[in-house]
Amino acid sequence: MYIVPKLDDFSPPSLDRAAADLLAALDAESSAVTDDAAYKNFRDRWMARKNGILTQVNDLWLKAAPGPQKRDVGQRVNQLKTRVEELVAATEQHLRGGASSEKLEADRIDVTLPGNRHHIGAQHPVLRMMDDVVNVFRAMGYSIEEGPEVETDYYNFEALNFPPNHPARDTQDTLFLAGQEKKPTRDRLLMRTHTSPVQIRSMMKTPPPLRVVCPGKVHRNDALDATHSPVFHQVEGLAVDANITFSDLKGTLDHAMKSLYGSSIKTRFYPSFFPFTEPSADMQVSCPFCGGKGCRKCKFGGWIEILGCGMVDPNVFEFVRDNGYDPAKISGFAFGMGVERLAMLKWGVDDISLFYQGDIRFLEQFA
Ligand code: PHE
Repeated sequence: MYIVPKLDDFSPPSLDRAAADLLAALDAESSAVTDDAAYKNFRDRWMARKNGILTQVNDLWLKAAPGPQKRDVGQRVNQLKTRVEELVAATEQHLRGGASSEKLEADRIDVTLPGNRHHIGAQHPVLRMMDDVVNVFRAMGYSIEEGPEVETDYYNFEALNFPPNHPARDTQDTLFLAGQEKKPTRDRLLMRTHTSPVQIRSMMKTPPPLRVVCPGKVHRNDALDATHSPVFHQVEGLAVDANITFSDLKGTLDHAMKSLYGSSIKTRFYPSFFPFTEPSADMQVSCPFCGGKGCRKCKFGGWIEILGCGMVDPNVFEFVRDNGYDPAKISGFAFGMGVERLAMLKWGVDDISLFYQGDIRFLEQFA
């Protein structure tokens, strides 16, 4: 164990030797420190004010030096002091953060392990499809309108020219709110069965010309199966102006389908019926899976039905005539499409309930 020697020779060579001995001891003792307790002993042994090695050096070397040597000894002692302080600090660093072999061993990383995957959020496929549709029409100058999910009989049925006994007005098909019996029929509340009531609301708000798309959630008293859900989404469209024709309807929808499914998609229209359009049509697209040749997805017909549409029935304009909708002066077309259906067709999803289950294995495919 190093002991600070008394000096009787204060010549430079003698001082050099003494300093070298001290530094050698310092190095050796620092290397021997492996834990906290040893470090504290080490630190106190060298730096304690009372009787630490530096204090002893001060007493035995500096104070004892004869007058003429004091300056030289003082400088050397200061240098030693700095060295000791540095090494004590370095020893502590090494112990805490430094790389002892045990610490390296404990911190060993197996770089071949799989990493932590951070799941990236993604828009839900139904909302994404809805946005895509809306954006196609926005690019054609349509604006967006929304309406309430809890609707009155008036907007959902009456103003859309549904006769009083139409089957859609039955509880078989429509979810009505309870406790409405005392109200007149037109004021009774129900969950809207389609987005078409937003047609009426938009025309009451804005006089012609009008071009709107209305995305939203709709409800029907249907059982869930592979292609039906009691809650689903639609995008409604309505264009009213002077001289709107069925050709405009066909051209608009054909363009929209080509934007959504690619330019090789074809459309065709065949007669149908809705109380609020006359004439009415269902539109089909050529099967995007087989290109129209016929496959299981299109039941080997080559075509898939995708939406309802038609020219706005003059009886509907009568309900909003006050706001400039004179059926003798204007005409219009309307369409409504099911968003889930469009999404199933776009991404080859064969069960609608996948959209509602929140299963990450399904949803992450859209990230
Ligand atoms: N509202 C109709 C439905 O839900 C679709 C439709 C909208 C038909 C607009 C014609 C015009 O089936």
